[in-house]
Amino acid sequence: MKIYIKTYGCQMNERDSEAMAAVLIDKGHEIVTDEKIADVLLFNTCSVRDSAERKAAGKVGILKRLKKIKPDIFIGILGCMAQRKGDELLKELPHVDFVLGTDQIGRLPEIIEREAKKREKISYTETTSDLIQGLGQHIIKNKISEFISIMRGCDMFCSYCIVPYVRGREKSRPQEDIVIEAEKIVSLGIKEITLLGQNVSAYGLDQRANTRPENSPLAELLYKLNNINGLERIRFASPHPYFFNDKLINAIADLPKVCNSIHLPIQSGSDKILKQMNRRYDTAIYMDTINKLKAKVPDITFSTDIIVAFPGETNEDFLASKDLMNEVGVDNAYIFKYSPREGTPAAKSGDQIPTSVKEERHQILLSDLAVRTTKHNKALEGRTFDILVEGPSKRNAERWTGRTTTNKVTIFDPIQNIKPGDLVKVKIDRSTSMTLFGEII
Ligand code: 5AD
Ligand code: SF4
Repeated sequence: MKIYIKTYGCQMNERDSEAMAAVLIDKGHEIVTDEKIADVLLFNTCSVRDSAERKAAGKVGILKRLKKIKPDIFIGILGCMAQRKGDELLKELPHVDFVLGTDQIGRLPEIIEREAKKREKISYTETTSDLIQGLGQHIIKNKISEFISIMRGCDMFCSYCIVPYVRGREKSRPQEDIVIEAEKIVSLGIKEITLLGQNVSAYGLDQRANTRPENSPLAELLYKLNNINGLERIRFASPHPYFFNDKLINAIADLPKVCNSIHLPIQSGSDKILKQMNRRYDTAIYMDTINKLKAKVPDITFSTDIIVAFPGETNEDFLASKDLMNEVGVDNAYIFKYSPREGTPAAKSGDQIPTSVKEERHQILLSDLAVRTTKHNKALEGRTFDILVEGPSKRNAERWTGRTTTNKVTIFDPIQNIKPGDLVKVKIDRSTSMTLFGEII
């Protein structure tokens, strides 16, 4: 069968979609990018913000027409929104054939086979404490960088977040399995891996006591992965500051393959709001981690997630977020307007912030970020960096693109025999807020 997969939301969803595609290809199906020629249309959805759910529901809604013209196609909704809404989706969108929750996506090949033989409405949203089997497969073709999911779920229950409800309890994969998976994709040409989890700094601590741990199974994993021949770079996302301890900091500083760019979600720069968010750290703890990393890792850059207009956020709280981002020197940020999620404690708060204020605060942080990164990038002009080559730039195929270990996108003229995955030295001669430009030396 011809199968079309559309993915919404985070990198974990992208990774799940790729693993599902690989499994389906193994079963003899074909993955297509044109929905009009597909027999099966799959939507791997996100629930983190209301906008993500509306986008996916809107897209699936439009397919009603396609299904009228081609009644034989079947449509499945997978992932977080499928988990959250279950049967409700089959009622809201009656042309949908099946709904598979976050812990049920391993059953996809079986469901497709069943639907092909006998059409029935299916909604599976049971959760399990077991790890899903069969999601370790990759599609490696013309790629140098790949995601590896190392854990699923989240136990943190930040007061705004739906993830612990839809993705369930934290489950970490065994270290050996991850190392074997990494070795395999590196043997197929992958040069950079990004370890993924909703709470990666708590990897391997599933049975943890309720105190800040001193050990870091993530750090142990990084040491093992660093030994893989042929692998050049290791990244990970997203860690929680509560579990970002000295063991992890030392691993980042010690290990040459672990990149000098850390994504560390702050969410707010106000201690009052952090408490209401149930984040389990304050700005002092956060800055302590940042300062230790700055002291130990040369040229380190930081990116973050931040939410504006959390219920009860005063202008003062908001300005504290802006100031903290400046103090860290954040170079890249996912800036979110607070979105109330049904069933989470924050959604029940009476102090919801008006849309116009959300919008205004969002804009202020975006422009502040652009000013800061323009300045940071300007300071890099004249310096030379190791660039992991990705290939021709999408905008202008005559120029090539790659990244620094600090995750700065760099554009340069290719040289003879250059190929994706090479490491080259590029001297920076120009920059914008988003990009560095230079020449290979
Ligand atoms: N509203 C806005 N942003 C949210 N995030 C999670 N839940 C919400 C919400 N209800 C953001 C957090 C998290 C990122 C993945 O999404 O910043 O780190
Ligand atoms: Fe959501 Fe907090 Fe878990 Fe991140 S750590 S997924 S924000 S509950």
